[in-house]
This record gives sequence, C-alpha cells and structure tokens, in this order.
Amino acid sequence: MTSFMKRFVFATSLCFLSAAFAAQLPPGAPPAPLPPGELVKIEHPAHPTVPPVTHPNPLVWRTMVEEITTKPLQSTNQFTFWVTNTAKTNVVIDHVQPQCGCTVAKLPKDPWPLTPGESGPITATVNFAGKSGALTKTMTVYSSEGQQTLTMKITIPFDPTAATREARMAQASADRQSVFKGDCASCHVEKGKGKTGEQLFAADCAICHDTEHQAEMVPKLTAINKVTSKEYWKYFLENGGTTLMPAFINTKGGPLTPEEIDKFAEFLNTKFPPKDQAQLKPISQK
Ligand code: HEC
Ligand code: HEC
Repeated sequence: MTSFMKRFVFATSLCFLSAAFAAQLPPGAPPAPLPPGELVKIEHPAHPTVPPVTHPNPLVWRTMVEEITTKPLQSTNQFTFWVTNTAKTNVVIDHVQPQCGCTVAKLPKDPWPLTPGESGPITATVNFAGKSGALTKTMTVYSSEGQQTLTMKITIPFDPTAATREARMAQASADRQSVFKGDCASCHVEKGKGKTGEQLFAADCAICHDTEHQAEMVPKLTAINKVTSKEYWKYFLENGGTTLMPAFINTKGGPLTPEEIDKFAEFLNTKFPPKDQAQLKPISQK
C-alpha cells in the first residue's frame, strides 16, 4: 500500500467512525470533533427559520386560481378575478404585472384605489395561439398592502382538425405550390377542373379566401384596400402572393393555362369591381 492509499483508508474509516459515533449522540449535541486537516462534510442542523412578520393581505379574492379547458379554434381567453378590500382603510392596487407578453391585464382604474368593502374585477386576456397541452400563466398584483399572485391554468385539448390544418400550413410554407400536388390536389385542384367564372372561384379561391373558419392570414378579397384592375388579378394568378398564396399558372405548377388565367382575371375584375384612389380607406380605419 502506498502512503497515499494508507492515508485514504485511514481517513475513510475515520469518517465511518465519526458517522457511527454521531448517530449515537443525543439529538442537539454538537457533532463529534474531526481529525485536523480532514475535509469531511458534516450536515449542520438547519437553523430554525424565523417566520417573517406578516398579516393576512386585506385584499381578498373570490379565487386566486382560474382554470379553463379551451374549445376548438379558441386562441384567447379572458379571465376575471374579483377582489374585495376587507380592510378598514383604503387599499390601492398600483399595477398588475403579467408573467409574459401573452397576457394583457386590465384594472378598472390604473392605479385603483379600493375603499373599505369595495370590490371589483381585474381581467386578464391570455393569447395561447399555436400552443397545446397544459399551460400555467401568472400575474403579480402590486398594492399598498404588498404583492399577490394570480394564476391562470389553461388546458388545450388535442384537436386533430387543427393539427391537420397546421401540418398543411407548414407544408404550404415550405412550398406554396404544394397545394396543387399529391393529396392536396383532391381538394385544391380537382374541384375546379373544367370550371370557369363563379364556379372556378368557389372551388379554387373561396376554399381559402371565403370560408367559415378562415385563417387570419388569408385576406378577405372583398376588403382589399388597393386600386384593383384586371392586371392586378392577373398578377396574383400568375405569381402568387408574398407568403402562402400559390401561383395558379401551369408554367409554375398551377392548374390554369395562360388563356384561362386571362379570362378568369377578367371575371374577377367584374366580381370585385375596381376601386379608385378616392375609395381607399385610410389604413387606420380598416
Ligand atoms: C379534404 C380537403 C382538403 C385537403 C386534402 C387539403 N386542403 Fe387545404 N384547405 C381545405 C379547406 C376546406 C380550407 C379552408 C380552411 C378550413 O376550413 O380548414 C383549406 C385551407 C388551406 C390553406 C389556407 C390556410 C388555412 O388553414 O385556412 C392552405 C395554405 C392549405 N389549405 C394548404 C393545403 C395543403 C398544403 C394541402 C396538402 C398537404 C391541403 N391544403 C390539403 C381543404 C383541404
Ligand atoms: C391555399 C390557400 C389559397 C388559395 C387556394 C388562394 N389564395 Fe389568395 N391568398 C392566400 C393567402 C395566404 C394570401 C395572403 C398572403 C400572400 O400574399 O401570400 C393570399 C393573398 C391573395 C391576394 C392578395 C391580397 C392583397 O391583400 O393584396 C389576392 C389578390 C388573392 N390572394 C387572390 C386569390 C385568387 C383569385 C385565388 C383563386 C384563384 C386565390 N387567391 C386562391 C391563400 C390562398
């Protein structure tokens, strides 16, 4: 045995000894002394914690935790927290700080002084678009009586329709012409085959642009705030838009020939009569 190993064995057995020794000591007795120079970690008994001097916050909430389960296609929810001032003096709620940018909190007044016995609501709107599963969001209420935390629990059940739609959207983001290919074509191409005018519009355009659960990113064609013309429609049919709007011309993988595009652009220009400059709304009033 090298001298190092000897020392190690010695130190280790000392450890065991002192541990065994310590176990026999009455509670509260000081731990057994250690041989000098040995680095052995001894668990000190925890210092008794002195509870901070508090009094119950006089702002009493009907509930400090709100829970919801979302409905299909729901992406925001408004929570309401009712509070009552049970103190004999005024209490002022200075502000409410949500934990994340997804939550917008609203006080009846900002700051909000509550007289004795007064009660009222704080609302919080949480945006959980694109999220799934169980979420917990909090916000801190700062008042003249200190801080309190309100909790919002959101359960978003798995929605197969939303999941399919998200997957399709992701595919279209990667290649917007993919709506004309494979399985996508059964809905986005087949129904418009051999059709013109209104029927072609219903099959090929309204499917995205005028539909019950229309995606936010798809604009209403009736509300386009631009000077339109046959050329305008032709441009979009031939080139597509800036993101998911596909190009319908067959030279780019679309279902329509240049002649069909020309006729259809003429139809669209009558269906959505051109606006002139004077008809355009200022953007802020849209
Ligand atoms: C069973 C028919 C069907 C099939 C198949 C289909 N779609 Fe759609 N698509 C629709 C309908 C209907 C809408 C309108 C929105 C809605 O109701 O979900 C739509 C809307 C869209 C939108 C607009 C954004 C939106 O969510 O509203 C995109 C982009 C899209 N589809 C891409 C695709 C792609 C890519 C495929 C193939 C992977 C595909 N679609 C397959 C029926 C279909
Ligand atoms: C797969 C879904 C989808 C289909 C099908 C579709 N669009 Fe679009 N369209 C969009 C989206 C998304 C946008 C907005 C983003 C962009 O420009 O790419 C858009 C934008 C547009 C715009 C531009 C609007 C503006 O504000 O300037 C026009 C015009 C348009 N589409 C016309 C059509 C016409 C006409 C058809 C039918 C031939 C059609 N779209 C079919 C999804 C679609």
